[in-house]
Amino acid sequence: MSSMAHSPSPTPPRDAPAPPAPAASVTASAGAPTASIPDRSALLRVLRDPQGGESLSLQAGGLTSADGRRHWPIVRGIPRFVPADDYAASFGFEWNLHDTTQIDSVQSTKVSEQVLRDKTGLGPDDVRGRLVLDAGCGAGRFAEVLLDWGATVVAVDLSSAVDAAARHVGSNPRALLVQADIGSLPFAPGTFDAIVSIGVLHHTPDTRTHFLKLPPLLKPGGTIAIWVYPDEGEYRRRLPWIPVTSRVRSRWFHGFCKVLVTWMRRHPRHPMSAWIQQIFPISSQSHGLENDMLDTFDGYSPRYHGVHGAEQVMGWFREAGLEDVESLPIATSVRGRRPRS
Ligand SMILES: C[S@@+](CC[C@H](N)C(=O)[O-])C[C@H]1O[C@@H](n2cnc3c(N)ncnc32)[C@H](O)[C@@H]1O
Repeated sequence: MSSMAHSPSPTPPRDAPAPPAPAASVTASAGAPTASIPDRSALLRVLRDPQGGESLSLQAGGLTSADGRRHWPIVRGIPRFVPADDYAASFGFEWNLHDTTQIDSVQSTKVSEQVLRDKTGLGPDDVRGRLVLDAGCGAGRFAEVLLDWGATVVAVDLSSAVDAAARHVGSNPRALLVQADIGSLPFAPGTFDAIVSIGVLHHTPDTRTHFLKLPPLLKPGGTIAIWVYPDEGEYRRRLPWIPVTSRVRSRWFHGFCKVLVTWMRRHPRHPMSAWIQQIFPISSQSHGLENDMLDTFDGYSPRYHGVHGAEQVMGWFREAGLEDVESLPIATSVRGRRPRS
């Protein structure tokens, strides 16, 4: 992904549904002609030039580098450090289509909250009043939980999923959404008290190198927790399909998943179902049909699909100089802490 600054608005993914405008926004500061953004100018100050690390100034509907040479637009209230979804276009599609499917407040469940607890080992006491980075936020299901737990959240995604996330958490003054690449993030070292990245890094071109971008952003004593695909079960069995399924146009492949998942749920005992499940595993998470369609699409459509072992992931944590590295009960959920000094 290029980290070059840009001025045009980002192009929506080829076949993504158009995201609606955020509910409410105000100008960032009185007087000067600024972008229309939610009033969270203090939070905007965490943003830095991804190239040089200097502070940015609010100018001409966006953010401008100290030397005035680079400019990043704020579109629909979201600072955009990438010009488009790049390889993550399928995610822009899926999270704008299924924007509410996994959102606890909409579904009246605590499923995402439980997933966050299980895959990070974190709870409200760990994040209340803290600044947390959600790296690869998708439609914002974990950002919403972190905000409910009292954290201030910077939620980043490479794709137009940030527009879906904005519909859920964008009006919260403790939330800042940013479209950016984990490979070139617009933050200074030592910014965050905690970083979570769930189900994201294995979808980048190189899981390890993208992971290694995150620990330096922690404050001393800060915690990072990630979950990546384990090298087992359906995660491994889906791998050979990726070169084919990731090339199919998102709208068509989603239609295919819809028909297949619906049929298999209606005919669970049909011999064909067992056979299909063996060679082309579909999702079956007992959170409803919509969720299984979303998760099946999600399991086959991304361009990158890495699978990893817990020891391998713990090795990256140690390579990053993290302490108290522990593997949590959910496979390949690992967390660690930046040394205090
Ligand atoms: C499977 S989704 C997970 C979203 C969310 N963490 C969740 O579990 O609901 C993976 C997300 O990672 C994002 N992503 C992939 N590569 C990225 C990168 N280099 N930088 C930022 N986000 C990225 C995708 O756009 C997508 O929204």
